[in-house]
Amino acid sequence: MEHRDRVVMITGAGGRLGSPCALAFAREGARLILTDLDASRLEAVARAARAVGARVAAIPADVRLDADVERVVAEGTAALGPIDVLVTFAGYVPTTYVVDMPTEEWDRVFDVNVKGTMLCCRTVARQMIAREAGGAIVTISSGAGTSARAGAAHYCGSKAAVNMLTQVLAIELGPYNIRVNAVAPGLVLDQVVRRGEGSPHPYVRDMLAAIPLGRTGTADEIAAAVLFLASPRASYVHGEVFYVSGGAHCGRAHMAVARGNIQTA
Ligand SMILES: NC(=O)c1ccc[n+]([C@@H]2O[C@H](COP(=O)([O-])OP(=O)(O)OC[C@H]3O[C@@H](n4cnc5c(N)ncnc54)[C@H](O)[C@@H]3O)[C@@H](O)[C@H]2O)c1
Repeated sequence: MEHRDRVVMITGAGGRLGSPCALAFAREGARLILTDLDASRLEAVARAARAVGARVAAIPADVRLDADVERVVAEGTAALGPIDVLVTFAGYVPTTYVVDMPTEEWDRVFDVNVKGTMLCCRTVARQMIAREAGGAIVTISSGAGTSARAGAAHYCGSKAAVNMLTQVLAIELGPYNIRVNAVAPGLVLDQVVRRGEGSPHPYVRDMLAAIPLGRTGTADEIAAAVLFLASPRASYVHGEVFYVSGGAHCGRAHMAVARGNIQTA
């Protein structure tokens, strides 16, 4: 119970990854400030967390808006106490080639994924600095932050920006004993899909070919990494982009090095 009575704020808490992570913190005894744009998904995870005994403040908000983020921190803190841990799952993941890109879609990806993450980190870090008790921030990046793929210029670019934001914040907040790390998940679907089994979507099939462990991940595996990075066990881990990807970030797992003289092939 290494998170017992710690106050943990989670954005995107109603989502596929955010919701199991909130429940994992709840089982560890944390008090939860949960927020999401989608009020009904938020209420569902809040109910589930209360059912395992957690104290929860569930506050719907849009992370793109300064006033919303300030309100979540103010109301959440008033209800549960000052924040020890921030986790930023809120994200937007559309797929469009650049030549077809509506400007609004580009802006929304950067507004949610980058500006929203920055606003939450900024507001919570101000409180942590004033309190002089340190803290931990875990941003949520993606393998896409370092691996280009068609249809995701905005998404890949936004996650590359999250990686850099995380490292800049590590430098800026380290002197206050506020540790800042990113978790970069690989592909996590609602169910685990294994290479060679069933007939997955072509994108999933291609991804599986490049995942050394040969399967997609689970939301609980992402949550385990977040809980570790937020815990005292990670007390000297700082400014890290922590891949939880089955090894997909390692390189071209789907092809061996060429044998023989490729110049004459
Ligand atoms: N699932 C994956 O395979 C995967 C892989 C790599 C990275 N990620 C990242 O993990 C995070 C969560 O992904 P997910 O799979 O749970 O997606 P999801 O869509 O299930 O969850 C995202 C949540 O963010 C919320 N949200 C969106 N815009 C918001 C806003 N403006 N303000 C507040 N909340 C907002 C949504 O309502 C949703 O509940 C994202 O940042 C995503 O980029 C996911």
